[in-house]
Amino acid sequence: MNQGETAPAPNWDAWRAEFPGLRQRTYLNTVSLGQLSRRSRAAVNRFLDLWTEYGASAWYSFWLQEVNALRGEFARLINASVDEIAILPNISSALAAVASCLDYQSRPRVVSCELDFPTVPYHFQARSREGVESVLLASPDRVSVPLEDFARAIDQRTALVATCRVYFTSGYIQDIKALAEMAHDQGALLLVDDYQGTGQLPIDVKSTGVDFLVTGGLKWLLGGPGVAYLYVRRELAVRLQPRIAGWFGHRRQFDFDPHTFEYRPDAARFEAGTPAVAAVYAGKAGLEIINEIGPAQIRRRAAALNQDLVSRLRSHGYRLRIPADPDRQASITLVELADPMLVTRQLAERGIIVDKRPGVIRISPYFYNTLDENEIIVQALDDIVTPQDRD
Ligand SMILES: Cc1ncc(COP(=O)(O)O)c(C=O)c1O
Repeated sequence: MNQGETAPAPNWDAWRAEFPGLRQRTYLNTVSLGQLSRRSRAAVNRFLDLWTEYGASAWYSFWLQEVNALRGEFARLINASVDEIAILPNISSALAAVASCLDYQSRPRVVSCELDFPTVPYHFQARSREGVESVLLASPDRVSVPLEDFARAIDQRTALVATCRVYFTSGYIQDIKALAEMAHDQGALLLVDDYQGTGQLPIDVKSTGVDFLVTGGLKWLLGGPGVAYLYVRRELAVRLQPRIAGWFGHRRQFDFDPHTFEYRPDAARFEAGTPAVAAVYAGKAGLEIINEIGPAQIRRRAAALNQDLVSRLRSHGYRLRIPADPDRQASITLVELADPMLVTRQLAERGIIVDKRPGVIRISPYFYNTLDENEIIVQALDDIVTPQDRD
């Protein structure tokens, strides 16, 4: 069990103080980029000090251990084992490594949906010359895709279901346990892109039954760019053979034997080349914070802030593109506006940072935000937004 699930409520003011950027702006944009903590800054400084002091021997004395410790910290967060985790530079390369192992001869279909982050379908569309059929399910309401539509699309010709737990343009939380069952019933595998979920929502990969989970440091895991995490269920991690290879995925990396490639006996076989060590340091510090607070506590706090935001926005007449059921909503709220670009810019001029996507702004309170900040943004929107954008 993650620390924090039974513990009393954390001291949120103290955690807020860990993120100095929050003193400068009303920052409601973790959906794009999590705030930098003092701890991540100190960790990166430590990486730089080790580089100065030790040069290349920092690899053997410190940096490789830090990569392994990062795997362990992530494994703890999702209830996996360290040998089921690979560290990669971004989600796209994790997807490429996973997709390279699958046999599309008898199972050419890969099922995703139009609410998934485009990287996911792009990857499989780019494999069409190998015969991969990328199936993209439609969303009737731009918030979710009915599970029955997934059930209809997943068949005996499906190699993989590749979809998000949380949609980046609606905040909807998919039932990934049900998706795993549907995929497995047809002999297919499930890959979950959890970039918008891990950190802000608890996850237990064992009880959900997912085969692959990819996520990264950028957003809710507070690690910044340069590190992505790939979970591969153990039985697959020891069997699958990625066709993207490099010396970090070799069983005897430091033998430098060019004659035979031998896969590592764990998920790190999905790794290829030298990791971005500065990002590893920043990422581990971010993960430590998440594990210390505990995702269950974080979810409670972020959901309470988000529900407060939703009811304020609703009572002021804003049109929201969000799930009807609050239990299905992550801490991402979309406000439909005629000119989201202009509104985002005008909010930024007032020191309020949100993000825009076609037709909407995205507001994403995290545990380090406050109710006062919800009030600030709603007041600012009332000043800026034209009457046509409100009921
Ligand atoms: C759900 C989701 N998947 C993937 C990505 C990005 O993937 P990559 O690490 O390849 O840039 C993002 C956002 O930036 C995202 O929101």
